[in-house]
Amino acid sequence: MLPTVSATPAAVIVAIDGPSGTGKSSTSKAVAAQLGLRYLDTGAQYRAITWWMLNNGVDVSDPERIAAQADRPVIVSGTDPQAPAISVDGADAAGPIRTQEVTSAVSAVSAVPQVRARITELQRSIAAEARGGIVVEGRDIGTTVLPDADLKVFLTASPEARAARRSGELKGKDATGLAATQQALTERDKADSSRKTSPLKKADDAVEVDTTELTLEQVVECVVTLVEKASAEKAGRMEKAAR
Ligand code: DC
Repeated sequence: MLPTVSATPAAVIVAIDGPSGTGKSSTSKAVAAQLGLRYLDTGAQYRAITWWMLNNGVDVSDPERIAAQADRPVIVSGTDPQAPAISVDGADAAGPIRTQEVTSAVSAVSAVPQVRARITELQRSIAAEARGGIVVEGRDIGTTVLPDADLKVFLTASPEARAARRSGELKGKDATGLAATQQALTERDKADSSRKTSPLKKADDAVEVDTTELTLEQVVECVVTLVEKASAEKAGRMEKAAR
């Protein structure tokens, strides 16, 4: 039997996970903007806490020292997909969190359970406050942060495509070549996928989209269709329950 659908779409929580360079951020922002949803970049939050640790002289190779400081930084994330913002202790962190120094340290910092517990709590409260619906992008959103999300999407792409995209993004900001970018991405994915606490992993009920051969517009179109369907089905279930 077909699910009940409604003409009035419901507010939905959308989890978009996957490794770096699969187009997660561009896709999530565009989908949220197109559908009038809020947007949360959870990688930016892990980068922000890493930036704070580096600025405050915390030895990022020592999980115990990181754990002891995990509650200290005050991280505030904006959720406007057209102007994503992040601050740490009141300072704008949008630029500094993209430096190579932060990128190199973020996997180690984000593997610490106390850091994950703190950031996960923050993410859940932001999602709960987004009454009109939200797109949350990350690595463990569908598996751990929001296991009851209305739609879970897992983006993938070949290692070559991911390195080429990331190299394109870094052009002019970083001297790293394509091979070095691919190597760094592979190492970061390995660390993110093999950590003990909520590793990068596709949720069993996530829809996998391989973006290797797709343009950004095609990926956005595909995800928008999935969100609209999830929203209509949710509205149908709500209507049925209210009868
Ligand atoms: O998406 P990004 O490259 O900005 O993420 C930076 C790092 O943060 C990534 O290497 C792994 C970590 N991360 C995480 O552990 N869990 C998330 N939900 C999002 C990011």
